[in-house]
Amino acid sequence: MRRGVNVYVLLVIAWVVAMGYFLLFHTGSSTSNPLRQSLDRYFSGSGKNNPQRHSLDQHFDGAKDRINSENLVHNGGENLVQNKDLVHNGDENIVHNSRVDSNDDLVHDNQDLVKVASAIAEKHGLVLFTLLNDAFYDLASSWLCNTERMASLHSKILVLTTDVDTGRRLKRRWPAITVVSMNVSAFTGALEYSRAGYVRLMVERTRCINRLVQAKVRMLLFEVDFVWLGDPLPEVLSHKDADVVGVGVYGRNHQLICGCFLLLNPTPATEKVWSRLTEQMEDLYKKVANSGSKTAVSEATNDQTFLSSLLNAKYGGVKVVYLPDDLFPEGKWYMEPKLRAANPNPLVIHNNWVIGNDVKIKRAKKFGHWFVSNDSTTSDVICNVTAVSNVLAKGPKPST
Ligand SMILES: *[C@@H]1O[C@H](CO)[C@@H](O)[C@H](O)[C@H]1NC(C)=O
Ligand SMILES: *[C@@H]1O[C@H](CO)[C@@H](O)[C@H](O)[C@H]1NC(C)=O
Ligand SMILES: *[C@@H]1O[C@H](CO)[C@@H](O)[C@H](O)[C@H]1NC(C)=O
Repeated sequence: MRRGVNVYVLLVIAWVVAMGYFLLFHTGSSTSNPLRQSLDRYFSGSGKNNPQRHSLDQHFDGAKDRINSENLVHNGGENLVQNKDLVHNGDENIVHNSRVDSNDDLVHDNQDLVKVASAIAEKHGLVLFTLLNDAFYDLASSWLCNTERMASLHSKILVLTTDVDTGRRLKRRWPAITVVSMNVSAFTGALEYSRAGYVRLMVERTRCINRLVQAKVRMLLFEVDFVWLGDPLPEVLSHKDADVVGVGVYGRNHQLICGCFLLLNPTPATEKVWSRLTEQMEDLYKKVANSGSKTAVSEATNDQTFLSSLLNAKYGGVKVVYLPDDLFPEGKWYMEPKLRAANPNPLVIHNNWVIGNDVKIKRAKKFGHWFVSNDSTTSDVICNVTAVSNVLAKGPKPST
């Protein structure tokens, strides 16, 4: 008995020493350092009160198309020089600039994108792919809370972040998802829709998607300014003979597809469409390569309009299927009571047609579609399980 107690005491002492050692040598150098975290938070929030951003935070009205989460804040002009250096020569430089500490297996290097995505697609039949920067951390957290309990959904998710810290934060909080990080400071901070900085990020996203499509990885491209009232995969995957399955932009009679939610089946037609789209985006890149990140770029030239033209022209024989508008409404659903009354149980709602993440978050909160808050004890986010359950209970019941 006494002997047992002594062994126990020794074990406790050993544990305390080990923990002390761990805290001393690990927290100081990593991003879990509280000081580092508060600095990160300070800098990632620094665009919030910018008057230019506020002037954009208004309802968008008229024939504009993709007013979604990327329509954001600010990126210091200083980043531009680095942006040119890093992006100008294509993927390769970005890849070389995205080395991650070798003793840190939280996030993978962008070089591994195809390998990592292929492994997920092999196991689950597809990969759910999104590209995020630090400005999307809260929206991403809320969406991850939203979908956390959907069967094996998180294990199908591959998030590509533009910086390593955001990748690590996400992976630490959401161990079931897979994270790949770039390390491109020009892509951090909020980038405004239809501005050169944003367009360059979309060029990079198109290149990454192209790498996956050409490697025959089946993917659902998604964005995080969405609420999912149920798992849309059964509906999305039910269109067996389509090359591309997507969501139509509101009011455009399925002539304009949203670049926000796209199933890409890796068929020869999809490969042709995506390699042509990548060429078009590379041409666009050349035009904006030397522009300041806030220089306006016409909406007539972006990934979404180029893709829509290719799809409308049935380029490469591509077959596109649009998902039912009532199940996949856009942000107009939030804005027009008539649309909501006519369509009370959508499956997936895009929180778009407004500009600015804080406006989107406010709207999501108003409709009970916000699922996350800060936890003062762990300094990480916690999910509002009640809000998630309420929303999932409202989704359409799967037809049998
Ligand atoms: C990211 O890039 C910067 C500047 O190029 C470099 O100093 C830093 O070490 C890189 N970080 C990682 C994790 O690779
Ligand atoms: C958590 O706190 C940070 C720092 O104040 C803030 O930037 C962030 O928006 C908060 N997140 C949530 C989900 O409230
Ligand atoms: C959680 O969600 C419920 C339902 O939307 C809401 O009433 C409650 O205030 C939320 N709790 C927190 C801490 O945000």
